[in-house]
Amino acid sequence: MTTSYSELGLVNTRDLFAKAVKGGYAIPAFNFNNMEQLQAIISACSEVQSPVILQVSKGARQYANQTLLKYLAKGAVEYAKEIGGGRNIPIVLHLDHGDSFELCKDCIASGFSSVMIDGSHHSYEDNIALTKQVVDYAHQFDVTVEGELGVLAGIEDDVQAAAHVYTQPDEVEDFVSRTGVDSLAISIGTSHGAYKFKPGQKAEIRLDILQEIEKRIPGFPIVMHGSSSVPQEYVAIINQYGGKMSDAVGISEAQIREATKSAVCKVNIDSDGRLAMTAAVRKVFATKPEEFDPRKYLGPARDELKKLYMHKCVDVLGSNGHAFD
Ligand code: G3H
Ligand code: 13P
Ligand code: ZN
Repeated sequence: MTTSYSELGLVNTRDLFAKAVKGGYAIPAFNFNNMEQLQAIISACSEVQSPVILQVSKGARQYANQTLLKYLAKGAVEYAKEIGGGRNIPIVLHLDHGDSFELCKDCIASGFSSVMIDGSHHSYEDNIALTKQVVDYAHQFDVTVEGELGVLAGIEDDVQAAAHVYTQPDEVEDFVSRTGVDSLAISIGTSHGAYKFKPGQKAEIRLDILQEIEKRIPGFPIVMHGSSSVPQEYVAIINQYGGKMSDAVGISEAQIREATKSAVCKVNIDSDGRLAMTAAVRKVFATKPEEFDPRKYLGPARDELKKLYMHKCVDVLGSNGHAFD
């Protein structure tokens, strides 16, 4: 059965990005796989009145089940309405790192309002051809599309890249105009996961490359993946209660904030949520070993997640108060 995203009460990214670029803030794209993460995202963003992008990876889609996901997204809209006294914050359901035309097509049929086609591991021309194929299809349903140029170091889904291949500013104008994408993910030194820099390495992203890219495509919506900051307080709690995460380090929140003041209008955050949940769960397991009711450890994890998401909207992305612009 085909479901259009508007039936679920979702929106695409077009207007949200235009307003965010103009307003000098970014929309949070938070990954989720389960109900507690979704509850935390919706309650946090509703409370601070931020638009939000619910992000689902291929792995998350397999984990949560595609049918259930559709109704979770519909439930998220209704939940946001309930919190908002009848008016919900704008909610996008987005495929993160789509790796094929078929996957994007499938997601569009099951109610996604936005898809990413990540052709960054292909040759430049193959990336353009694949991205354009997805754009031409998605736009028939008014679904927006994110493409990617440049390769992030580390693990991107199943593909491992040894080093960053920074986005080449010289290519962006051609890529954007030939594919027709609605937004562009770039590689400027961020990477996925909790180990973004090696010990002793300068923990800095290339804001100079971002500036060069923006000069070539002024005002065009830019996306930053790998934007977790790896809060050291979570890493400390995880390690205190039996975890093993040494040398975990992320992108400073100050650098993310700097990027969002320009055309960066979508910031992807997954790992920080994983850390918040793991820290909270480990703490309960270690300090209350008698507990075996999942609500007693998933509840605190959800509370910690909500705190984290509110902090991201208010102190890092500046998206709070922009839900009804
Ligand atoms: O970019 C990757 C996201 O963090 C999703 O990760 O593929 O393990 O769900 P995942
Ligand atoms: P982090 O691993 O830094 O949270 O990045 C998530 C991401 O880019 C999802 O696409
Ligand atoms: Zn990513």
